[in-house]
Amino acid sequence: MGSRVDTVTTVTGVRATALALESVTRRHGPRGGRGTLALDAVSCAVPAGSFTAVVGPSGSGKSTFLQCAAGLDRPSSGTVRVGGTDLGSLSEAALTRLRRDRIGFVFQSHALNLVPSLTIEENVVLPLVLAGAGPTDERVLARGRDLLARVGLAGRGGQVPATLSGGQQQRVAVARALVTAPEVIFADEPTASLDPESAGLVLGLLRDAVRADGRTVVMVTHEPAAASWADTVLTMDGGRLR
Ligand SMILES: Nc1ncnc2c1ncn2[C@@H]1O[C@H](COP(=O)(O)OP(=O)(O)O)[C@@H](O)[C@H]1O
Ligand SMILES: [Mg+2]
Repeated sequence: MGSRVDTVTTVTGVRATALALESVTRRHGPRGGRGTLALDAVSCAVPAGSFTAVVGPSGSGKSTFLQCAAGLDRPSSGTVRVGGTDLGSLSEAALTRLRRDRIGFVFQSHALNLVPSLTIEENVVLPLVLAGAGPTDERVLARGRDLLARVGLAGRGGQVPATLSGGQQQRVAVARALVTAPEVIFADEPTASLDPESAGLVLGLLRDAVRADGRTVVMVTHEPAAASWADTVLTMDGGRLR
């Protein structure tokens, strides 16, 4: 418990903000043209150590919200801060480093999440290797093994992703998203293609990352059952937060 409190509170006991959006607008289409207003002046603050679900109908801007919040897309205007860092102030190279070192991602399709030619263990430790760690470094291998055990896939690290079910592959994706101990884990419809039992396992892993480790999770979903695992539900409609 002690370490968790340290990660989510400041010395004054006030919860730190892991993610803040200030009047973020994202317009798709030609500059000056009408285009599509995918995000319309969205502001929100996500406390560190919380599990937030973003819900809303198809086309309401959920994925655009997540892409802008995670530094995968740049807003047309407004400010996004991750742990106090203004993403708009960063060069592409610095933004790439921030995404690699301080953010974890789980995408909708397990087929897009993992590199098919790498083993499961290599997939899990990939963010560490991209950051410069040796792939055969014993500490890196141990970290990979720990995370695979945590997601219930101990002993499967030497296989390639295609030997696992979709739900098992999503659990590997969660392990990889946790490997750098990131400040925020973003997930876009992580359970969309899974049966209810596999979905429950993936959602339980995300919730445990929050409860046990004090991580911050922001998950987009259109499924009320998935949203019910979160502490806070934000509802999007027509590019705005309701
Ligand atoms: N790259 C793009 N180019 C043009 N329009 C886009 C693009 N991405 C999203 N949109 C539009 O922005 C709106 C919000 O899309 P999206 O964020 O994907 O919503 P959701 O994830 O809630 O379904 C939709 O009207 C969508 O058609
Ligand atoms: Mg979407």
